[in-house]
Amino acid sequence: MNLIIFGAPGAGKGTQSNNIINDFDLKQVSTGDLLRSEIKIKTELGKKIESIINNGELVSDDVVNALIKKIISDPKNFNRLIFDGYPRTILQVYALEKLLKEFNQKISIVFSLNVNKDIVSKRANGRVICNRCLRIFNIYLNPPNSKNHKCEKKYLEKRTDDDRKTILNRYETYVVKTKPILDYYDKKRFLVKIDGNQKIVEIYDKIKGILENIRD
Ligand code: AP5
Ligand code: MG
Repeated sequence: MNLIIFGAPGAGKGTQSNNIINDFDLKQVSTGDLLRSEIKIKTELGKKIESIINNGELVSDDVVNALIKKIISDPKNFNRLIFDGYPRTILQVYALEKLLKEFNQKISIVFSLNVNKDIVSKRANGRVICNRCLRIFNIYLNPPNSKNHKCEKKYLEKRTDDDRKTILNRYETYVVKTKPILDYYDKKRFLVKIDGNQKIVEIYDKIKGILENIRD
């Protein structure tokens, strides 16, 4: 099955995708992670998109769709993708539909994590990510410890777009450009809305219960 995890910045898309890949043979595709890795290794694309990401705006649809095409077209990924943070515009929705059709696949379910605006900056403020295993933690809400994280502490980093001003811009961008595409998935009847203000484990229990009953 392929699925989408949808939600505002800090809604928990990456956290829940991390949980899902521990239990299911699926692969997480975070367009944010893919773009950050271009910046980190200083590719031509990375240089072009760095300021866009640090301003909390969206990278162009063409760039993101091209990254996604590489992944969907790879036979290793056939029908086992979790789209985290993609699609984010209606043009990305159409591009994804076209690609999935071309490679004989579909989306089985869309999880939408709904969170209150005031929670978003609190979560972003405390977030640290391990740049080795890519696990996501929060120094206040979900701290890394010897049980949940095996890599050395030196790999834990903050994201450059998690400062207060950028997170508010990211939230605004989400409301204006991304949230409206939920209507599209609602009409297709495979949208599951989940209260993302709950505890990580409570949210995951719901997601897991639903995924265990999907057989394609
Ligand atoms: P991206 O990396 O996707 O960022 P985002 O959408 O803003 O979402 P986040 O990664 O901030 O939040 P998340 O929902 O994954 O939350 P997380 O699990 O980490 O994109 C970054 C940028 O790249 C964009 O702004 C844009 O510029 C560009 N981009 C990416 N995709 C694009 C696209 N398709 N098109 C165009 N441009 C694109 O959790 C957050 C924190 O909260 C963590 O610390 C976590 O431990 C904690 N937490 C999570 N859940 C809970 C919970 N239930 N309770 C308590 N704490 C929790
Ligand atoms: Mg994320």
